Amino acid sequence: MKNTLTITQPDDWHLHLRDGALLAAVVPESARNFGRALIMPNLTIPVVTYKDAVAYRGRIKDALPDGSSFKPLMTLYLTEKTDPNDIKKAYESGIVIAAKLYPAGATTNSALGIENFEKLQPVLECMADIGMPMCVHGEVTSHEVDIFDREAVFIDKVLDPLRRRLPSLKVVMEHITTAEGAAYARSDPGKLAATITTHHLMINRNNILAGGIRPHYYCLPIPKREKHRLCLIEAATSGNPCYFLGTDSAPHLDKSKESSCGCAGIYTASNSIPCLAEVFDRADALDKLEGFTSIFGANFYGLSPNKRKITLNKDLPVIFPQKIKTDDGPITLFNPNIDIHWKVTS
Ligand code: NCD
Ligand code: ZN
Repeated sequence: MKNTLTITQPDDWHLHLRDGALLAAVVPESARNFGRALIMPNLTIPVVTYKDAVAYRGRIKDALPDGSSFKPLMTLYLTEKTDPNDIKKAYESGIVIAAKLYPAGATTNSALGIENFEKLQPVLECMADIGMPMCVHGEVTSHEVDIFDREAVFIDKVLDPLRRRLPSLKVVMEHITTAEGAAYARSDPGKLAATITTHHLMINRNNILAGGIRPHYYCLPIPKREKHRLCLIEAATSGNPCYFLGTDSAPHLDKSKESSCGCAGIYTASNSIPCLAEVFDRADALDKLEGFTSIFGANFYGLSPNKRKITLNKDLPVIFPQKIKTDDGPITLFNPNIDIHWKVTS
């Protein structure tokens, strides 16, 4: 039985850091275990231009603990008005490494997202030319489509046609939650990849809804049936480089989650790495953890893996704090609902 594991320092390829008091509280938590993170642009006023991204990156850096080497890699929020020249300038700076496509209304702060996908064609052509990946929130938003089917329908009705119009565009399917998502993600190696979150490997829809509504497990895309969770575990532990970690850690204040209309998003930045070690250990796949957390994402984005290593140790169950304090009130940390025996020790 393996009780110690040393791996290349992980990166988080999908992270929400917010702004203001939340930013100040969560940045040190991500910086503790992760070397870099791809920062999502869905602030209340989204990060739409290169100038917005530079300013937001400055605020993130100001919130880092002294001496931290954590590197925020920025994204731009695509709108129907995005200027291809601004996208190009942003990518060439090295500060912005991808652009994020939110279908309008799909999730938190996505009102400015895309309604007419064809309007994006000039921007996407520019991205394909310069090799800039598009990260996509892959859910349709129409009310006729059941919330549990929205990912599979998006692949058929939006993503596959979009990729056929522009086969050279690199695409990351963010936070996949279904067997269909996992199958599509592996269909075009090098051009197509998918992030998988910590929580979608650990919870299914029963965790949210059976025996009472648990708002801290509510997120988008919504966790699906157990058979889909098992497919995601199989994908994450397969060693296929098209699957890598994006925690989608998405902090909301407790008062926004515990409400008659609670926000979507689970805060997992503080305990993701121990949780993932537990998931991979239980799947007898600890040897596949490093690829998933620390190698495949960097490779897809054309970056080198981190030079630093981290060490995890397995021992008695670890007690995590239930809440993270912020100046605006508490945030609840993801409760993995199983004993986690792994701890990052250095
Ligand atoms: C995210 C958020 O709160 O910003 N919420 C979520 O449930 N994952 C947005 C997103 O990634 O969909
Ligand atoms: Zn997200």
